[in-house]
Amino acid sequence: MSETPLTGFGNHFSSEAVPGALPVGRNSPQRAPLGLYAELLSGTAFTAPRAVNARTWLYRREPSVRTGAYAPLSHVLLKTGAKEGVDVPPDPLRWHPQDLPVAPIDFVDGLRTMVVNGDPDAQTGCAVHLYVATATMGARAFANVDGEMLLIPQEGRIRVTTELGMLEAGPGDIALVPRGLVFKVCPVIDGTPVRGYVCENYGAAFRLPELGPIGSNGLANARDFEAPHAAFDRGPAQPWELVRKFGGKLWRAPAQASPFNVVAWHGNLVPWVYDTRRFNTLGSISFDHPDPSIFTVLTSPSDTPGWANCDFVIFPPRWLVAEDTFRPPWYHRNVMSECMGLVYGQYDAKEEGFRPGGLSLHNSMVPHGPDADAFDKASGADLAPRKLDATLAFMVESRWRLRPTEFALKGGALDRSYADCWAPLQDRFQEG
Ligand code: FE2
Repeated sequence: MSETPLTGFGNHFSSEAVPGALPVGRNSPQRAPLGLYAELLSGTAFTAPRAVNARTWLYRREPSVRTGAYAPLSHVLLKTGAKEGVDVPPDPLRWHPQDLPVAPIDFVDGLRTMVVNGDPDAQTGCAVHLYVATATMGARAFANVDGEMLLIPQEGRIRVTTELGMLEAGPGDIALVPRGLVFKVCPVIDGTPVRGYVCENYGAAFRLPELGPIGSNGLANARDFEAPHAAFDRGPAQPWELVRKFGGKLWRAPAQASPFNVVAWHGNLVPWVYDTRRFNTLGSISFDHPDPSIFTVLTSPSDTPGWANCDFVIFPPRWLVAEDTFRPPWYHRNVMSECMGLVYGQYDAKEEGFRPGGLSLHNSMVPHGPDADAFDKASGADLAPRKLDATLAFMVESRWRLRPTEFALKGGALDRSYADCWAPLQDRFQEG
């Protein structure tokens, strides 16, 4: 096994944990090497265009069909699709961070859905969840058939064990698990609380945005995405629990052995980790600032060009140099719906109130912008070059309205005084 990272978004990789485990020159020989079973995992329809076609061949000790029957598993805080959201007035909404847990809880039990839209049966829409965990998942594994899962750690490092190998991510990193891939998420140090966000994407798989006039480099560069090397459980068989999100519900089945039994694989449907500190942030070097789409890391397109099912956008450290410019975000009402989180530091439009681990929601055409304090500071600031440093906010943006869940509205974290931050803004008009 090579120690060189497997790098490159969308690349076709080959990885084997035992030499000779990968067949050569064909995918499904009459007898796969070393007594392994060959299994195909397709992430796109067979006939999807080649540029977006994604699949991986797995060579494993047991085929994944070998489980017991699935039975429903209750999870009252995990919600799916617009039908499980709540209609709300067109107000801006914001939430305080949730407390880190003290009692043992694992990643699956620690998922709390905050906003939802779309319908996974129609392969449209997305959800934003919060996760907390203190305990490892032990002999428990998860697969999400409703969508891919983008993990955004906010506190503590997590280990993401997948059928294709292992990744680690901490605050500042993001990690993606493709639809249907079996995985588990554990604190790197068992017993240490971890917290973060998950963007669940029911639609077309996230891809890098087109760069247009930016050219062939910039934003998230393909080579900075790292996939794991093949790794598998070598121990003797022991009972496992498989949890599957399927049609908006959780199901569980017993298994007699670890699902992490893939000895070798090759393909381009892979989990990955990306360090957002490698994002090549572009912006204005004259006046005004571009639309925040300039900060897009990943996009999930819809059927209408340019109207994303879901964009994942970051607001990373960057220099502000624009002349004669109000440098924070302007006041705005957008047709797209925006859900924001803060990983660390301060967000320049809301230096107070929007706290790391918190969340905000500005749905379609809901007016918002800098709070009164940020407006006053930015209007009077000396416009010398200034570095916004040690900060990372992100935005999940969708063409469909995001509905909060009942937990979001009644779970105790809703900031009921959010709109007060704009109350001091006065009519400053002076004619003539
Ligand atoms: Fe906005």
